[in-house]
Amino acid sequence: MLKLIRRNAIYVDGYKEYCQEFWDHDIHYFRPTNPALIDETWFERTKSWYDKKELGLISGQPVSFHYWAVDGDNFIGEFQLRTELQEEVMTGIGSIGYSVLITEQGKGYGTEILRQGLVIARDHPLERVLLTINDQNILSAHICEKLGGVLMDRIPAYNKDEGNHIMRRYWIYL
Ligand SMILES: CC(C)(COP(=O)(O)OP(=O)(O)OC[C@H]1O[C@@H](n2cnc3c(N)ncnc32)[C@H](O)[C@@H]1OP(=O)(O)O)[C@@H](O)C(=O)NCCC(=O)NCCS
Repeated sequence: MLKLIRRNAIYVDGYKEYCQEFWDHDIHYFRPTNPALIDETWFERTKSWYDKKELGLISGQPVSFHYWAVDGDNFIGEFQLRTELQEEVMTGIGSIGYSVLITEQGKGYGTEILRQGLVIARDHPLERVLLTINDQNILSAHICEKLGGVLMDRIPAYNKDEGNHIMRRYWIYL
């Protein structure tokens, strides 16, 4: 059964494999940590940075919460929630990031991660969350619409990984 959990050292190897897969396949819709940075000390080394992000203590970065999706002993994917709607969120990364290990895609995990992630979002004082989805990413757009996403608009966007592209912006009301 899929669960969203706080980052946990026992899943670091699975997390690294997932990051490696995404980098090897050059998946540009979502770019996880560079796997080359993940060594034996990575989890402890980065813990306070993630804790500070949750408290909004990293200058220039939105408040964000990071979850890992696991099924039993297996690392499946991740979920990120940003709880403020500043410029970078509205025109770039959106309130939510989610993804699934390539070898585990197409089994319903992506839908379940977003569904459970929205339950987590409801624990915050938020009326709605914004999903920013590359117009070409029909799978993510389909999942978002299935879970209540209302298309606000399509706007031109740019980032290092996706280049120039058209971005769909969806609201999901909580
Ligand atoms: C998007 C992503 C999370 C989906 O994960 P997944 O585990 O494959 O998703 P699911 O198995 O829950 O659902 C896939 C859905 O897409 C549908 N689908 C598959 N191919 C499709 C196509 N060509 N057109 C439209 N829908 C399609 C499936 O039928 C399924 O929908 P259904 O359950 O209503 O039948 C995964 O592809 C991923 O990690 N992609 C890279 C990162 C990413 O894009 N993240 C989102 C950034 S906004």
